[in-house]
Amino acid sequence: MHDETTAKRKDAHLDLCATEEVAPRENATLFDDVRLVHCAMPELSVDQVELKTTWFGKTLKAPILVTGMTGGTERAGQVNRDIAQVAEEFGVAFGVGSQRAMAERPELTSTFSVRSVAPTTVLIGNLGVVQATRMSVDQVRRLTDGIGADALALHLNPGQELSQPEGDRDFQRGYQAITALVKVYGDRLLVKETGCGVSPDVARRLVDCGVRNIDVSGLGGTSWVRVEQLRSSGVARDVGAQFSGWGIPTAAAIASVRKAVGGDVRLVASGGMRTGLDIAKAIALGADFGGMALPLFRAHQEGGVAAVRTALQTVITALTYAFALTGSRTVTELRRQPRVVTGELKDWLGALT
Ligand SMILES: Cc1cc2nc3c(=O)[nH]c(=O)nc-3n(C[C@H](O)[C@H](O)[C@H](O)COP(=O)(O)O)c2cc1C
Repeated sequence: MHDETTAKRKDAHLDLCATEEVAPRENATLFDDVRLVHCAMPELSVDQVELKTTWFGKTLKAPILVTGMTGGTERAGQVNRDIAQVAEEFGVAFGVGSQRAMAERPELTSTFSVRSVAPTTVLIGNLGVVQATRMSVDQVRRLTDGIGADALALHLNPGQELSQPEGDRDFQRGYQAITALVKVYGDRLLVKETGCGVSPDVARRLVDCGVRNIDVSGLGGTSWVRVEQLRSSGVARDVGAQFSGWGIPTAAAIASVRKAVGGDVRLVASGGMRTGLDIAKAIALGADFGGMALPLFRAHQEGGVAAVRTALQTVITALTYAFALTGSRTVTELRRQPRVVTGELKDWLGALT
């Protein structure tokens, strides 16, 4: 019964994400408050822009991650395989959605399995920290081993859980579960939010637990409070309306977390990243990777594999141009370029230490 509910909920999420307004207001990421400075004399050939990077012992052609979305139903399996195939073609990383359904029903493994279409690229499994607190590390390990993943993304989503009438209400023992998983996964553990952002304080505690990869997944893109609000009624719907703009804007999260954790931690900027220029700005603020979910899912719904290809090509091309137009060959060079930070983002960065 519980298992059926998990799968049904996943399909309802896909329907809402495909059609409804699930993101908050314009510029909620605050990337519009960041301007990179134009270089009229780049003194480089576009071919010299080096987007290649390494992660989890593999080489990626661009610093991009398709963040975890789905799995658990036939429809979800097709979404995973189609988008993963394009991720492989472009040499970017791919994450499956929460494998909770697979833990409950191992026969659903095939809906998370994408190695037949994405044999070489970085593949990341996914589980909620709340679920992890109730499982042994061996049970968790079986999920990632079962799909040949290179790493595990452990997602934090208290905002979503509280907005779900059937969601969890107990968020204790999270750091304890993460510490236990670090012992098994080492630096192959990625801790991610799901659209409300990671603060510098939380990032510091995660690093103290041994975490070496953090996806800040901030405010500005898909709001899970909003998605759950659209599925609910009565009190849950009214409370959800108050919190659908809740969270730390992605630009504020990435810049403040980088400052808090120093250079050794790999940081993903996700949550409302919509263009290659957004990713370039995030890199300038301290990100190692840009992550996207909704735009690629929507492209898939509108035009299948071909549309996902076009969407990713557009992002990578714009990212390359942003490097060229700031006169940057590499991530290190882009980070050193001047940038202008204005408006609300400046206020956030003044407050977050
Ligand atoms: C359809 C859909 C399903 C998602 N499911 C998961 C999930 O199972 N696990 C997870 O960690 N994040 C999940 N996310 C969150 C994304 O990975 C990402 O953190 C968030 O959507 C913000 O990125 P975006 O604005 O590009 O969508 C999902 C996102 C979408 C759009």
